[in-house]
Order: sequence, then structure tokens, then C-alpha cells
Amino acid sequence: MKMRFFLVASMVIFCFLGISEGGSLRKNFYKKSCPQAEEIVKNITLQHVSSRPELPAKLIRLHFHDCFVRGCDASVLLESTAGNTAEKDAIPNLSLAGFDVIEDIKEALEEKCPGIVSCADILTLATRDAFKNKPNWEVLTGRRDGTVSRSIEALINIPAPFHNITQLRQIFANKKLTLHDLVVLSGAHTIGVGHCNLFSNRLFNFTGKGDQDPSLNPTYANFLKTKCQGLSDTTTTVEMDPNSSTTFDNDYYPVLLQNKGLFTSDAALLTTKQSRNIVNELVSQNKFFTEFSQSMKRMGAIEVLTGSNGEIRRKCSVVN
Ligand code: HEM
Ligand SMILES: *[C@@H]1O[C@H](CO)[C@@H](O)[C@H](O)[C@H]1NC(C)=O
Ligand SMILES: *[C@@H]1O[C@H](CO)[C@@H](O)[C@H](O)[C@H]1NC(C)=O
Ligand SMILES: *[C@@H]1O[C@H](CO)[C@@H](O)[C@H](O)[C@H]1NC(C)=O
Ligand SMILES: *[C@@H]1O[C@H](CO)[C@@H](O)[C@H](O)[C@H]1NC(C)=O
Ligand SMILES: *[C@@H]1O[C@H](CO)[C@@H](O)[C@H](O)[C@H]1NC(C)=O
Repeated sequence: MKMRFFLVASMVIFCFLGISEGGSLRKNFYKKSCPQAEEIVKNITLQHVSSRPELPAKLIRLHFHDCFVRGCDASVLLESTAGNTAEKDAIPNLSLAGFDVIEDIKEALEEKCPGIVSCADILTLATRDAFKNKPNWEVLTGRRDGTVSRSIEALINIPAPFHNITQLRQIFANKKLTLHDLVVLSGAHTIGVGHCNLFSNRLFNFTGKGDQDPSLNPTYANFLKTKCQGLSDTTTTVEMDPNSSTTFDNDYYPVLLQNKGLFTSDAALLTTKQSRNIVNELVSQNKFFTEFSQSMKRMGAIEVLTGSNGEIRRKCSVVN
């Protein structure tokens, strides 16, 4: 009897969680209203990717910054206005890019089915498509666009490269993502680049005595010192996954285990037994791709606006 009650109760809770997490996102939301929507997103994304190999990195980071601030509502795409500084002009915006691609797709979709497809869905779909099925993840649709974008909220909600494991866990937990999601999604740093000033304290002045971070591989530190000009070098970038920064693979984890994670936030994943165990699991590429796909799906469902909430923007950079 007790068992049965427990089962029913947990089913109710499970359904409730399912609803609140995925919202009313569903597969192929535009099937009737704009049947070619997903194909158009894919085609235009791939056109751009073919001439810009760095685009997958740009789009996934844009999507991540969107989802962590007010949910995946395309708030990151909005421009600042006279009275308001938008998310994209906040400090953690360094190197955010790919806005033009989303706007290009939006234009094509507005021509085909005006007022139907949200910028939030376009960004989510285009991010997945940019990876050319490696790894592939399911994207549910039906997100609507937000009308608010504030730089201060980006500062509060976006993890910083100098954060420790406690801070990172908290920021992910605020979005109902787990430690496992944190370690898995950090694997996105297998592509893309980082600016020197975001990690150069680890090279030149770690404790204020002109020293180096002892948790950073000394050989790698020497290599980084040949690239970065000093503590305030804000212009030089280095590949986060050396020599493989446009290939989405699982290099991130073996490289991390050699103490060659670029940021303090990467190195932080090795500082607790629990997170280190997850790192060790993800050294297997199949495992990483499977887990990454699942975590991306969860990230894409953070605090989404659905139903009659929000709006369908006509242009992604401004509210209607
Ligand atoms: C765990 C906390 C995270 C921190 C502290 C963090 C921090 C950073 C920083 C500081 C940069 C360098 C920006 C620059 O110098 O231009 C960066 C780049 C990047 N991040 Fe993260 N990130 C985190 C999680 C994620 C997640 C969850 C994703 C995606 C799923 C992601 C994807 C990327 C990509 C692809 C780049 C390269 C961008 C480019 O090449 O322009 N990061 N991240
Ligand atoms: C997308 O690209 C494929 C292959 O190039 C093409 O056959 C198809 O017609 C395109 N679809 C749209 C909607 O543009
Ligand atoms: C980042 O913000 C600064 C202002 O804080 C702005 O000048 C710059 O254009 C922004 N970068 C992007 C990619 O939007
Ligand atoms: C993480 O940083 C916070 C804020 O600086 C600090 O209070 C906390 O003790 C740090 N935790 C760890 C595990 O280093
Ligand atoms: C290193 O950090 C210390 C303490 O914060 C500071 O006084 C010193 O000026 C820094 N050195 C450089 C080269 O910036
Ligand atoms: C990256 O490539 C350069 C030039 O080919 C080589 O000297 C360097 O050792 C490589 N680095 C790694 C980490 O493989």
C-alpha cells in the first residue's frame, strides 16, 4: 500500500517536473504553421558554417548566454536602447558573435511565414545544425521571444572564468542544471578560443607575487606565455583545445586531466572527487556525445516562454 502511494506520488511529481522543465515545447512545433522552417534554418546555417569554421563555437556560446539569462528567449540578441543596456553589452559579452547569421535566417523565415518562428527557436535550432550532426541532439520548439534584456542580469547569471567549483555549481543549480550538466557542458570548450586577459593571472600573478597557478601544467603555462603579452593583454586569443579548436571531439577531458584546462573554471572541475569522477567518465567519446546531447536539450529548455507568453519578434535585435 505504502509502495503504491509512493509510486503514484512520484509519478505525479515526475509529470509535474516534466511539464515545468520542458514547458510545452514539442517536436516540430512549426509543422503546420511553417512546414519548411527547420529546413530553412538548417540550410542557411550550413551555408554560413561552410565559410566560417568558427561559427559553431560562436552560436553555441550565444545560445548558452541566452539560456542562462531569463531563459532561452533570445534576450541576448536584443540591442541596447536609449534607456537600457542590454545583455549583449555586458562585460561577459567578450567575443559573442553570430548575431548576423540568426538575423539572416530570421529574414528568410519572415519572408516565408511572417510572424511565426521565434528568434529563440532559430538560435536553438541553428546551434544544433551548425554541428552537422556531430553530435546531434533533439531540439524541441515552441519557444517565444522575451521583451526584456538587461546587462546586469548577464553579470549575475553567466559563470565567470575565475569561478571555483562551488560558484559554478550554484550558477548551474540556479538554472536547475546539475553538477553532471556542468561538467558535460563545459566540454563545449573543445572548440573556440579564449582571450588572454581571462586567464593570464594564472600565468603572471596568481597570488599577487608574480607567480603561476600551481594547478596549471608548467609546460602548457610556458606555451601560453609565448602567446599572451601580459596581464592586460585583451586582444590575443588562444585555442582552448590546442590545435583542435574547430573540431568538436572529447579532447577537452584528456587535456583537462593533464592540467591544461585554460580557465580557472575549467581547472575547477578537477577540484572535487565527484566532479573529477565525471571528467574521467567523459574521456570516452561515445559517452560524452550522448551526455552532451542530453544536457544541451536540458539547457535549451531553461525557463522558456511558451503559449501566449512573450512574442514572436519580427526582427531579432529589437522587440516588436
Ligand atoms: C561552466 C562555466 C563556463 C565558463 C566560466 C565559461 C567561460 C568562457 C569564457 C571566459 C570564454 C572565452 C571568451 C573569450 O575570451 O572570448 C568561453 C568561450 C567559450 N565557451 Fe564557455 N564558459 C562556460 C560554459 C560554457 C558552456 C556551457 C558552453 C556551451 C554549451 C560554452 C561554450 C563556449 C564556447 C564554444 C566558447 C568559445 C567561443 C569563441 O570561440 O568565440 N561555455 N567560455
Ligand atoms: C535545402 O537544401 C537542400 C540541399 O541543398 C535543398 O534540396 C532544399 O531544397 C533546400 N530547402 C530549402 C527550403 O531551401
Ligand atoms: C560588448 O559590450 C560593449 C560595451 O560594453 C560593446 O561596445 C560591444 O559591441 C559588445 N560586443 C558585442 C559582441 O555585442
Ligand atoms: C569559492 O569562492 C567563494 C567566493 O570567493 C568562496 O567564498 C569559497 O570559499 C570558494 N570555495 C572554494 C571551494 O574554493
Ligand atoms: C600582482 O598582484 C599584486 C597584488 O594584487 C599587485 O600589487 C601587483 O601590482 C601585480 N603585478 C602586476 C605586474 O600587475
Ligand atoms: C600544435 O601545432 C604546432 C605546429 O604544428 C606544434 O608545434 C605544437 O606542438 C602542437 N601542439 C599540440 C598541443 O599538439
